[in-house]
Amino acid sequence: MTFLVINGPNLNMLGIREPEIYGNRTYADLEAHIRDAARLFGVAVELFQSNHEGAIVDRIQQAYGEVDGIIINPAAYTHTSIAILDALKAAGLPAVEVHLSDISQREPFRQVSYVSLACIKTIAGKGFGGYTEAIKTLAAFIARKEG
Ligand code: DQA
Repeated sequence: MTFLVINGPNLNMLGIREPEIYGNRTYADLEAHIRDAARLFGVAVELFQSNHEGAIVDRIQQAYGEVDGIIINPAAYTHTSIAILDALKAAGLPAVEVHLSDISQREPFRQVSYVSLACIKTIAGKGFGGYTEAIKTLAAFIARKEG
């Protein structure tokens, strides 16, 4: 089983950006965390980070027929991007949405997620642990579907 893990804009600035919200660990730390979690659940992961909406759309399209599921933290595009929503729908792969912070408790504009409309689950407010939960959720969902 292979999952594509997509992280959107400014997540490459983890450790520097708003540490009171996102913590002190870096994007490299997040990559290591995701790789460790994937190993734990026996799945392969491909990691992708981009600050560009079109690049994220391209990567989702490329994932069609290539991976079994997608984990995505679309960052600020969560709240604006119909293009990313449509790309997820087009690829038709099971997807889980992750946010480090609890977007339901932040500014009103962060409480709207277009991307969630194409996801089987949204995990928010659990920090790096949200990615672990996403891998577990996606693996169980696919195993159930195939079994
Ligand atoms: C975020 C929440 C978004 O509102 C914000 O724009 C981000 C990160 C999170 O992981 O908590 O960049 O997706």
